Amino acid sequence: MLNQFLWVILPYICMATFIIGHIARYRFDKLSWTAKSSEFIEKKQLKWGSILFHLGIVPVIMGHFVGLVIPASWLEALGVNDHLYHIGAVYIGSVFGIITLIGMLLLTARRLSIKNVRRLSSALDIIVNIFLLLIVFMGCYATIVTNAVTPTFDYRETISIWFRNLFVFSPNADLMVQVPIAFKMHILLGFAIFALWPFTRLVHVWSVPFTYASRSYIVYRKHKV
Ligand code: HEM
Repeated sequence: MLNQFLWVILPYICMATFIIGHIARYRFDKLSWTAKSSEFIEKKQLKWGSILFHLGIVPVIMGHFVGLVIPASWLEALGVNDHLYHIGAVYIGSVFGIITLIGMLLLTARRLSIKNVRRLSSALDIIVNIFLLLIVFMGCYATIVTNAVTPTFDYRETISIWFRNLFVFSPNADLMVQVPIAFKMHILLGFAIFALWPFTRLVHVWSVPFTYASRSYIVYRKHKV
């Protein structure tokens, strides 16, 4: 029962909340669709945290696509055998994972330690921050430590197949039973953030804010009475 709940019902609840939540936010609360920048309060720490986080997370997401969505047999047909795949996934994955983790640590320290940034943060801002930190930490832990201590475990034979099956409505919780706990925690937290996503500042991702770097400054002035 617990396995069915964790690996079938919960992922579907999170995905449904993700889709319906975005539609509802866009329809009924469009004006709050923003990254809610706090740059005008503090720039220096934000710059480093944000650059490192974004520099790391984009390749990490691309890596998730290759490892979770593309079947191992397809990569094999393209000449990427198991050994080659795992060297790439573990070494390249770890480098970008650690860059993401350092960025997330800096962003969390900034949010919690600078009084005005903290005061500007809603409870959800803090929760999202902590969730991201835990997800990224557990992802790095699974990649660096769990892969090393359980070398016979292959997530492309278990997690990846379970993950793809969800999207063709053929869920199979049994595939997740033997998965090491670090991966399980990483994935459950990962799904949880998808459920929270539409109600948080993370919606800015879908606005693909590439023009941000070149747009005109937003001028903030003190309110004089
Ligand atoms: C919800 C579905 C998710 C699944 C099924 C999943 C699965 C995985 C797996 C299998 C690994 C190990 C990769 C390896 O050892 O080569 C991993 C690593 C990692 N994950 Fe996830 N993940 C999910 C969501 C997320 C999210 C939402 C984030 C970030 C916000 C994230 C960040 C990371 C990081 C930083 C690593 C370590 C670096 C890397 O190997 O790419 N994951 N994840």
